Amino acid sequence: MPNFRYRYILASIAAISLILLSSKASFAAAAEENYKFYCSQCHGLEGKGDGPNATKSQPVDPRDHTSAAEMNKLTDEDIINSIADGGAATSKSTLMPPFSETLTRQEIAALKDYVRKLCRCKGK
Ligand code: HEC
Repeated sequence: MPNFRYRYILASIAAISLILLSSKASFAAAAEENYKFYCSQCHGLEGKGDGPNATKSQPVDPRDHTSAAEMNKLTDEDIINSIADGGAATSKSTLMPPFSETLTRQEIAALKDYVRKLCRCKGK
């Protein structure tokens, strides 16, 4: 019956979209958790660069991820590279540690999206 086949296709499309949507949402939720766990001690729980490890005794402050002016200087690739390979890889301070051994590429890409949400900026 053609009608049945049509409904079957529609149901499949709906199911696939649901799966895709929920995996995107769970990546976003995981990114927020990862940020709070791995990044907040320096960058702060809200990303303002004021975590408990950011003290005046250090030569540079952790980036304020809510500052569009600062974060607009970086491309998405810059952000991904500095999370994966740390400050040294992008000629920034080695106080920014590398995370490529700790986090997957997908988790790092999701963190980049999270940081972009914090700055509400698109970068250059
Ligand atoms: C031990 C402290 C520390 C931790 C933990 C840390 N950062 Fe950083 N981060 C820094 C410092 C310090 C800088 C500033 C480096 C500079 O300007 O030279 C920085 C800079 C950055 C930058 C800007 C890099 C650039 O090229 O300007 C991004 C993006 C960033 N951090 C993301 C993260 C994310 C995401 C995490 C967690 C996965 C994280 N950081 C964890 C200290 C830290």
